[in-house]
Amino acid sequence: MATLATEHVSVSYPGQRLAALADVSLTIGADDLAVAIGPSGCGKTTLLNLLAGFIRPNRGRVLFDGQPVTAPGADRAVVFQHGALLPWLNVRDNVAFGLRLQGVERAARRARADEVLELVDLPQAAGRAIWQLSGGQKQRVGIARALASPSRVLLMDEPFGALDAFTREQMQELLLKVWAQSRRSVFLITHDIDEALFLATRLYLMSPGPGRIVEEVQPGFSQRYRAGESARAIKSDPRFIALREHLLDTLFRLRRQEEAA
Ligand SMILES: Nc1ncnc2c1ncn2[C@@H]1O[C@H](COP(=O)(O)OP(=O)(O)OP(=O)(O)O)[C@@H](O)[C@H]1O
Ligand SMILES: [Mg+2]
Repeated sequence: MATLATEHVSVSYPGQRLAALADVSLTIGADDLAVAIGPSGCGKTTLLNLLAGFIRPNRGRVLFDGQPVTAPGADRAVVFQHGALLPWLNVRDNVAFGLRLQGVERAARRARADEVLELVDLPQAAGRAIWQLSGGQKQRVGIARALASPSRVLLMDEPFGALDAFTREQMQELLLKVWAQSRRSVFLITHDIDEALFLATRLYLMSPGPGRIVEEVQPGFSQRYRAGESARAIKSDPRFIALREHLLDTLFRLRRQEEAA
């Protein structure tokens, strides 16, 4: 059964000529790592905000296990683009923050925080201040915080956008490990085609004016990584390169059509 789905959703913001999203239908199954990719302004964050329950569609429905999503919930954790960490709390307390709000007692939330810090390869940083962390480490704390909650879905908005290419690749592999071990479905936004292709079980290519899904593909490379193939081998596979060229072609063709219109 599908976990999260949108059915023909449209979103229009006041004062905007074109809809931010028009007739968008997608499915994120329980085992999926779904990725939305597309140029700036095509409605990716709007889509994530719908799935999180931060906003409601003007038309269509958002469903979680078949039930309409009407508000944010602890079952859908969000990893924000800029980390949104609390600088006055140390790493462990940042990770445990949501649990504190939920009334989980101190020893239990510390134990849970340490468990997920282990999962994101940061066990040694639990007592550190946020300002003592690198960008990649901060992103891992943001992921750990989302994992600490009892959520079944992780919603991630450009989680690796601010990282250098090498750290970014490390984080992609870490995410695949976390995805496999934590048994949650993931919805991730990115601008990076290689990242989208490498991670996605389902890839949604989006285009602006109005924001819509123009193509869905199921690349299958993350399953190959899970089965033991190396990231470098996968990313240099001719099928990977051909699919990247195909997606780029589609994006450029749409751009030309838009400019001609
Ligand atoms: N709260 C808002 N009020 C009015 N317009 C908005 C609002 N949020 C987004 N928009 C507009 O809706 C469109 C889609 O925005 P959205 O943030 O979803 O795009 P995006 O694909 O996430 O872009 P980026 O890649 O730059 O983050 C844009 O034209 C944007 O200006
Ligand atoms: Mg955005």
